[in-house]
Amino acid sequence: MRVVVVGGAGTIGRRLVPALRSRGHDVVVAGRASGDVHVDLTSHSTIEAMYREVGAVDGVVSVAAHGALDEFATLTSEALRENMRAKFFGQADLVLTGQHHCADGASFTLTSGIFADRAWPHVTGGGVISGALHGFGLSAAIELPRGMRINVVSPTMIGDSVDAFAEHFPGMRPVPMDELVGHYLHCIEGEDTGRIIRAYG
Ligand SMILES: NC(=O)c1ccc[n+]([C@@H]2O[C@H](COP(=O)([O-])OP(=O)(O)OC[C@H]3O[C@@H](n4cnc5c(N)ncnc54)[C@H](OP(=O)(O)O)[C@@H]3O)[C@@H](O)[C@H]2O)c1
Repeated sequence: MRVVVVGGAGTIGRRLVPALRSRGHDVVVAGRASGDVHVDLTSHSTIEAMYREVGAVDGVVSVAAHGALDEFATLTSEALRENMRAKFFGQADLVLTGQHHCADGASFTLTSGIFADRAWPHVTGGGVISGALHGFGLSAAIELPRGMRINVVSPTMIGDSVDAFAEHFPGMRPVPMDELVGHYLHCIEGEDTGRIIRAYG
């Protein structure tokens, strides 16, 4: 299969892309500055341009763009909206635009996160983004054309990010990288649609 991985040069992408290639897939890595093709999830015109450049792919994976940490006492609706721009609206745009460009039966695999389901300090934005992605995935699954599929992988802190994130999420058990990569491979190669895969370790 020909698969575009947006954020393929990042922490999850660095594990997922070699796994896909070792299974014989033709992988195109996309990112703002990294990768083979440039795209910014906050820019609709670059998403259109990416799809024109890569052609009718069989799979689109997004492992890009984080929600920012926030302080509830000073949080504003404008800051919340800005926080949602890349990770929620950008991933939604990948699907809304991609449905017109991708091959019949193509899969979309988006990434959300555990804060859709679990309260934690300073992640109101992250929780809202991930909850919105889960709702988007359910609706998209029943409306996507031409047999296209969509699933959302919702990781907890991942094994490779423990050093970077443990200070913000003390005591949170990470999901092992092999297990996480297995979830993405299943979404891309399997037949499921409309699933929220809770990779909570
Ligand atoms: N790491 C964790 O513990 C963890 C836990 C739960 C959920 N997640 C979610 O998993 C996803 C990937 O996480 P990660 O840790 O692998 O991220 P990462 O290491 O920061 O990598 C992100 C990748 O996405 C690209 N990117 C960032 N912003 C972009 C944008 N606006 N448009 C296009 N590409 C963009 C970056 O490349 P460029 O800089 O070249 O654009 C980079 O390759 C994120 O949505 C994150 O919130 C991660």
